Amino acid sequence: MGTDKEIKSSIYNNLDVESEFFVRKCTLEDLEGVIEVNEKELPEDYPFFFYKSILDNYADSFLVACKKNNPKKIIGYIMWRIESAPSLNGLKLINKGHLVSIAVSETNRRKGVSTALLSNSMPEVLNDDLSEYVLEVRVSNYPAVNLYKKFDYTIHSIKKNYYRDGENAYFMIKKVKDI
Ligand code: ACO
Ligand code: ZN
Repeated sequence: MGTDKEIKSSIYNNLDVESEFFVRKCTLEDLEGVIEVNEKELPEDYPFFFYKSILDNYADSFLVACKKNNPKKIIGYIMWRIESAPSLNGLKLINKGHLVSIAVSETNRRKGVSTALLSNSMPEVLNDDLSEYVLEVRVSNYPAVNLYKKFDYTIHSIKKNYYRDGENAYFMIKKVKDI
């Protein structure tokens, strides 16, 4: 996993030629850089095996962003998992794409990095026959809420005391299809 050839073939080439960064699939060697960004930018940290299990199970939608002039340095990441839940009538299982975490290092924000991470990973999650995309976000996290609204996610409900420090979460959803 993670040979230069494999890395090259996983680069998404729908970004502007002028763009300072690019987006590609995450490899095992990238996890250290992903964890570094997560620990700096978000209070929700996870153990190494958690990242590893997301990579083992949902590699297609685990993407990283790197600078063109430093292609191994991770400046942002996005990871998803698929959850199965019974449909409303309980007759079948439906798949939800759960956005586990996204973050971009502070000096690289507001340049479209998250936009590239989201727009390239959402179609990858879709391969799992989804009915909706879901996520939780701190109610105070205006930049992230704004980002999700831009991608047509809507606030479905509030999860009280969702975070360890007691803050509430917005539960946001984007429907893929009616079930
Ligand atoms: N204020 C208001 N809106 C913002 C801001 C901001 N500071 N930053 C991004 N947005 C919104 C805007 O709608 C923006 O579009 P525009 O630039 O055309 O106005 C849109 O998001 C896209 O902006 P990007 O440049 O693509 O976003 P960026 O790469 O800066 O990343 C992110 C946004 C991920 C929220 C970043 O600020 C970050 O890493 N924050 C810390 C970590 C975090 O909060 N992650 C989300 C936690 S929730 C979860 O993971 C499920
Ligand atoms: Zn969640």
